Amino acid sequence: MLYSKVRYIQLPKVLRRLNQQLHFRTIQKQSSPVTTVVIRHTHAGNVGEEKVAAGGTFQIMGETYRADSWTNVTPKIISNIGKNLHNQQHHPLCLIKQRIINYFYANFTNRSENPIFAVFDNINPVVTTHQNFDSLLIPEDHPSRAKSDTYYVTKDQLLRSQTSAHQEELIIMGFDSFLAVGDVYRRDTIDATHYPVFHQMEGVRLFSESEVFKGVNDPTGLTLFEDTNQIKRTSDKQESHTLDAVKLLEYDLKNTLSSLAHHLFGEDIQYRWVDCYFPFTHPSWELEILYKDEWLEVLGCGIMEQKILLNAGAKNKIGWAFGLGLERLAMKLYQIPDIRLFWSNDSGFLNQFKVEDPETPIAYKPVSIYPQCTSDLSFWIPKDYTENDFYDLVRSVGGDIVEQVTLVDTFLHPKHQKTSHCYRIIYRHMEKTLTQKEVNDVHRQITQAAIDQLKIEPR
Ligand code: PHE
Repeated sequence: MLYSKVRYIQLPKVLRRLNQQLHFRTIQKQSSPVTTVVIRHTHAGNVGEEKVAAGGTFQIMGETYRADSWTNVTPKIISNIGKNLHNQQHHPLCLIKQRIINYFYANFTNRSENPIFAVFDNINPVVTTHQNFDSLLIPEDHPSRAKSDTYYVTKDQLLRSQTSAHQEELIIMGFDSFLAVGDVYRRDTIDATHYPVFHQMEGVRLFSESEVFKGVNDPTGLTLFEDTNQIKRTSDKQESHTLDAVKLLEYDLKNTLSSLAHHLFGEDIQYRWVDCYFPFTHPSWELEILYKDEWLEVLGCGIMEQKILLNAGAKNKIGWAFGLGLERLAMKLYQIPDIRLFWSNDSGFLNQFKVEDPETPIAYKPVSIYPQCTSDLSFWIPKDYTENDFYDLVRSVGGDIVEQVTLVDTFLHPKHQKTSHCYRIIYRHMEKTLTQKEVNDVHRQITQAAIDQLKIEPR
């Protein structure tokens, strides 16, 4: 995932906001989605075809925002907020969420056999840049902060691009073990496994010294932290941690997640651990599972950077964290071929997931596969052009009938020094056959919108 490559929040404010946003939920109880999306355009236009204009106001989940020069959320993206697919009973994302929660509830209990993991699945996706980036030690110049990668609501607020955005506030509130599930938003390419909105589950578990060394026969002399600050960071551990402590934590983390993979996919699942980098964990790993003969990355995890715990007031503990992608797990588990299907209202899709017990095995049977139509679009790009601007526009104008967009050719004109891009757009409806006329109309609208909004010049 993208992130492989401090300020202090005032406590009362955090608590007040969280109290409004957090709901302790039991997994049986499902809420119906509530959204109000009111978009006031400063000039005429269809919802879905343009950016929210600077200076104009718009609403997300009942809050009013005034657009500024950072605003790049589109009405199409805003229209997805609050759908909370992960909380809709019988939705495949809800079923897989329930299965993961069941695993944590069953396997991690306290003395009185109550589950230790608290579950949050209704936290507002509009977060601050502090939550999404600063609290996670993401450097100022990290590419994920760029407007081309992230949906900004205003300069200081954005649609979370990862559920890790909630780590700090939940630790500040005193939670040591929690799961946070929610919709996350990223500007990205368009294909069968990428959609600008997807769902993640964050897991965090903090341990005290006695908890870490609980299983050790003779723990005398074992500590969580080095007693000098002369020790350097290595590929195995952070400077302040002892190797004993992080090795035990690494074992616990990998064991927790590989057992989860077996719980979800059965004993035969093939998986592998890959070393990687995140600004908020060290060491860090990704778990990949074999999907259609390819290794598919389904989660990132690692030992939490101690500075995060320090900033959140948990300096005597160490912890692990993971973030997993629900769509990817569900695509593998239920054999769902395309990520757009999760947004389908078609009963042919949804009815296949109407089971009372989320542990019931389900294999999705495509109702039918409709033919693709392909059309190319070539144009000269303006100076400040970024590819993700084009992908967003295609999604906004073309909607979910766009299956894939690929940049097939780039050409620099030797004389004019102008660059041209040629994109191949594949159209396919999930529920019917598209006529050539329908495709041509949409393709024309996309071209026109790119001329008007991105100032491209068709070739
Ligand atoms: N937030 C990371 C991502 O979205 C995943 C992650 C979560 C990695 C927690 C490590 C720890 O890519």
